[in-house]
Amino acid sequence: MKTRTWLEALYERVLKNQIRYVPQHIAVIQDGNRRYAKNHGIQKADGHRRGADTTEMVLDWASELGIRHITLYAFSTENFRRDTGELDALFRLFKLKFRAVIEDPRVHRDKIRVQIIGDRSLLPPDLLETLQAAEAATREYSNYFVNVALAYGGRNEIVHAARSILREVKAGTLAPDAIDADTVEGHLNRGMRIPPVDLIVRTGSEYRTSNFLPWLANGHESAVYFCAPFWPAFRKIDLLRAMRVYDQRMRMKERRRIPAE
Ligand code: FPP
Ligand code: MG
Repeated sequence: MKTRTWLEALYERVLKNQIRYVPQHIAVIQDGNRRYAKNHGIQKADGHRRGADTTEMVLDWASELGIRHITLYAFSTENFRRDTGELDALFRLFKLKFRAVIEDPRVHRDKIRVQIIGDRSLLPPDLLETLQAAEAATREYSNYFVNVALAYGGRNEIVHAARSILREVKAGTLAPDAIDADTVEGHLNRGMRIPPVDLIVRTGSEYRTSNFLPWLANGHESAVYFCAPFWPAFRKIDLLRAMRVYDQRMRMKERRRIPAE
């Protein structure tokens, strides 16, 4: 557990008071677990474990701040290229965390729905089984939504939507001329209807969005916030600073809507 100085708590309050517009949906690229591990002289797997602790805290902060949808980039299709030792540790960690979701009283108290996006066919069957159990245990909830991207790739997401649309065209249930942006959106992620992303946050000083949610984020002109801390060191003030970027954008839009005298 990270300790918080009184100054940090005060700064959190100041930031919070500056925010008028709260994003409905934020997407987080959790980056820098291994660099954090290296800097702290710990194993990569421990860096990932500390990253997972941060994820839990971020979920608490997000619901406290009124963010209803959060999508976490946990594992990309490119991440399969990592060595088997790291992959095994990561898959074990995911399994542990999703098993914990099923039992977590906060999940049931706050009615949080957990959903997986990504190419399920690429995941180890035992992990997939646990993920599906977590989805099933929260299927009826709709106060908050936590989407976890595993074996995810943005272009792959669009390819799968295209295939699903074509199947309907072939079956004669969808006319090609009736296909519009909303049709595509409705076919993303097995028809989950995840709302557009308002804000993308990326940690670890990487200034790119890595093809994360190209339709829902880039396609909807989401705000973007890049920051330096490695994911395990991400704090509430970083989240609030990101939210301030979204707030500033919304205020600018509001000002532009006011007609000139
Ligand atoms: C990014 O840092 C982290 C990952 C690719 C691993 C997965 C994320 C977590 C363990 C956070 C917890 C998520 C859940 C759903 C429990 P990196 O490995 O790319 O580190 P680097 O950028 O320093 O190399
Ligand atoms: Mg990385």
